[in-house]
Amino acid sequence: MHCHILPQVDDGPTSLDESLAMARFCVADGITHIIATPHCHRYIHLLRETIIPHVDRLNKELFTAHIPLTVFPGSEIQVTNVEEYEKEFSLGLYCHLGDAPAFTLLEFNWDRKLFPDDAALLVRWIRDQGTIPVLAHPERHFYFTQNFPLLDTLVNEGAWVQVTVDSLLGHHGPDPKTAGAHLLERYGDVVLATDAHNMIRCSGLSLGYQWIKEHLGQQRSDDIYAHSEKIFSVCEGKSSSGNALPNSHTDSFPTM
Ligand SMILES: [Fe+2]
Repeated sequence: MHCHILPQVDDGPTSLDESLAMARFCVADGITHIIATPHCHRYIHLLRETIIPHVDRLNKELFTAHIPLTVFPGSEIQVTNVEEYEKEFSLGLYCHLGDAPAFTLLEFNWDRKLFPDDAALLVRWIRDQGTIPVLAHPERHFYFTQNFPLLDTLVNEGAWVQVTVDSLLGHHGPDPKTAGAHLLERYGDVVLATDAHNMIRCSGLSLGYQWIKEHLGQQRSDDIYAHSEKIFSVCEGKSSSGNALPNSHTDSFPTM
């Protein structure tokens, strides 16, 4: 539910071949469905009307290449200015997860100075619109990992937390690894994602779920999977054109 797989769109794969290689890797990992989440921030400001045709094109290429993977539209929306965010949100410009209003992937800037003072109020505002904000990889933001009560203020207002597999595996360094493990225990509403960008930064999901099973047990792993199922349930059967996607040819329930 957090993956940069669209070719030549953001800082993800630089070619269609690389996108297809990522797709094949994900399928081999057991993944059947992905939400593409290209960046929407101050420098790469991808909006719904731009993202959806890219997703349609990639699904057609996957079908042609006989790769059994379905990609849904979405985006990783970074907020530095709450007023601007709420304006674009209200205008329907953003591509939420699955192009449905139920969940949106929300990112904060790496720089503490650009973290909005009214972030908790924003989370409440998003919830009041009927949307659940899923916070992108807070275990990688030092101002959260050094101040978990700050993150608590967002979760207490109804945000979910997305932990990245590469953090748990230590690929983002020791602090995100420790913090990622902590978030899995600190909060209930947690989802796991790859935040894959290319073939180098593409760990799949199975290693992440294996890590959770080993450290926190099968029940917690199942619970986190169930949270992803909720997100994907709003995508299932829905495409940008309103028709069934051409390559949704698996009966197994989506992973991410
Ligand atoms: Fe991302």
